[in-house]
Amino acid sequence: MCGIVGYIGHSEAAPILLDSLSRLEYRGYDSAGIAVYAQETGLAVFKAKGRLKVLSDLVDGGKAVHGTVGVGHTRWATHGAPSDVNSHPHVSADGRFAVVHNGIIENYVEIREFLAEHGVQFVSQTDTEVVAHLLEYYYEDDMLQAVTKVLHRVNGAYAFGIVSTDHPDQLIAVRKDSPLVLGYGKDFNLLASDVTAVIKYTREVSYLEDGEIAVLSPDGVTVYDSLLRTVQKPRHTVDWEVSAAEKGGYEHFMAKEIMEQPKAFRDTVFPRITDGRVVLDNITLDRDDVRDMDKIYIIACGSSYHVGVVAKYLLEKLLRKPVEVALASEFRYSDPIVTPRTLALVISQSGETIDTLAAMREAKRLGARILAIVNVVGSTIAREADDVIYTWAGPEIAVATTKAYSTQLAVIDLIALYLADLLGTIDKAEYDAIVAELLLVPEKMEQILAARETIQYYASIYFNHASVFFIGRNVDYAAGLEGSLKLKEISYIHSEAYAAGELKHGTISLIEDGTLVIALASQAGVLFEKTMSNVVEVKSRGADVLGITSAALERGMCKTVDSVLTVPDTHPFLQPSLNVLPLQLFAYYVSLQRGCDIDKPRNLAKSVTVE
Ligand code: M6R
Repeated sequence: MCGIVGYIGHSEAAPILLDSLSRLEYRGYDSAGIAVYAQETGLAVFKAKGRLKVLSDLVDGGKAVHGTVGVGHTRWATHGAPSDVNSHPHVSADGRFAVVHNGIIENYVEIREFLAEHGVQFVSQTDTEVVAHLLEYYYEDDMLQAVTKVLHRVNGAYAFGIVSTDHPDQLIAVRKDSPLVLGYGKDFNLLASDVTAVIKYTREVSYLEDGEIAVLSPDGVTVYDSLLRTVQKPRHTVDWEVSAAEKGGYEHFMAKEIMEQPKAFRDTVFPRITDGRVVLDNITLDRDDVRDMDKIYIIACGSSYHVGVVAKYLLEKLLRKPVEVALASEFRYSDPIVTPRTLALVISQSGETIDTLAAMREAKRLGARILAIVNVVGSTIAREADDVIYTWAGPEIAVATTKAYSTQLAVIDLIALYLADLLGTIDKAEYDAIVAELLLVPEKMEQILAARETIQYYASIYFNHASVFFIGRNVDYAAGLEGSLKLKEISYIHSEAYAAGELKHGTISLIEDGTLVIALASQAGVLFEKTMSNVVEVKSRGADVLGITSAALERGMCKTVDSVLTVPDTHPFLQPSLNVLPLQLFAYYVSLQRGCDIDKPRNLAKSVTVE
């Protein structure tokens, strides 16, 4: 939520700030703004409601603004409606400080009252404005001292970028619970919410930790801890190309990322299988730890949570240990039963989702061992977990996740096999069969993607439905949850996913003539038969049923449903990795047909860093 950037160097800052912001727009796109300082013109601030393009047009792509130090912001509105005035940067009353902020100042009401008593008149409804005025209040010539005093005063989550007219040779970066990356260039330095915003300019980065303050100048960066002692930051070299974060000829990032899934799955799985065995070299969990574990808690949000729902079925089946899946936003406030014998499996694409991060910290505080599955290298969750397994999906830009979801599932498959092997709860034949099938998943994904026109055809038939229900049992139900979220978040069609057997306990009353039901039934045997009975129930009430099944079950399904999408057969545990592809494509093509803003759906942001 919200993206911040900052530049200090010898080039014109505005075009660089705008370009960097364009790579962060996925974090929020309600409004954008920049503040740039030049001695001749002072602090120039431009802000505009709407997409970054509105701001960019206003300042002629940055050419209309001069100065070599500045900050920029793209907003996902929390406090105060999207408007020009609520856009960042926010400036102190004396015009000396401009601040951009990602996060929430929780005690802003109290600070606002305090400042109002001291004569401050507020111009916006935001929480952030208090920071600009507090800087003015505490400032006595020394930026670092003023910033430190402000940090003692504010509660909440934040990453700030600050410029001051008194110290144009300094750009300040601070963080707590919101991501912040420093980019090191030759004669310039950068700050940003995410690596994607800086890699066009430099590949040398470091990640600011909670409570650290960085002072950037054109020639260097000094980082201080909260006691103002200097800290040596390790530098990392980003090893992926700028093109990985560009559309590469596709109309939307989402389409590109859907098509990248076979590669992402290969990159995530293949290097971790050696001689038919899963090797997770860099995790420290050993056999004794795993034997001692009496419970696994899976903690995540959104699509990552849906991966957790699949994981519960797999892990309980293979490990015979109880697995609980918790929505991260609920976990902290539910007095969870966590002990040092709990393994907390934390799943997050961004590694910055504040609900997940806070839940992880709580699980850790209660003694759990943390194993995180994360896509963004160096993100906070990755750094704070006891062990991390990265999903090598590459940068995911579309707000609706696709390749991150698939690679998270892939890592779950690896972990399930790895732990079952350590525990001795899987026999060799089954282990070998799953590994063999795992290696075939990317090829099978390619087959589904090659036949995407069929899915586009069904999307063209069904795109106008007002409401859609997804049903399935077991892992098919779990994949349905994800299919439903994909459809609703990008097409704005109301949709719900139900365990097929649960529908008759109330929701079936919503089924009427022409209601679209997408029925997933890809598990042979009793699960297939039971799901098909539920399909018959909705058909009898007039539903139009689009079935999704595996090749071996296609004939059985064709008899009952109106249309069928068939995916290749695989091991039942791996079926969600294939089933989700037609669901993603269906959501994509329906949204395309409805003219929706696919990569930037309304009200959403990619990285949710507010509770
Ligand atoms: O970065 P995370 O995996 O922690 O994000 C969790 C959710 O915010 C995310 O999966 C969200 O539900 C996506 N928009 C779904 O497409």
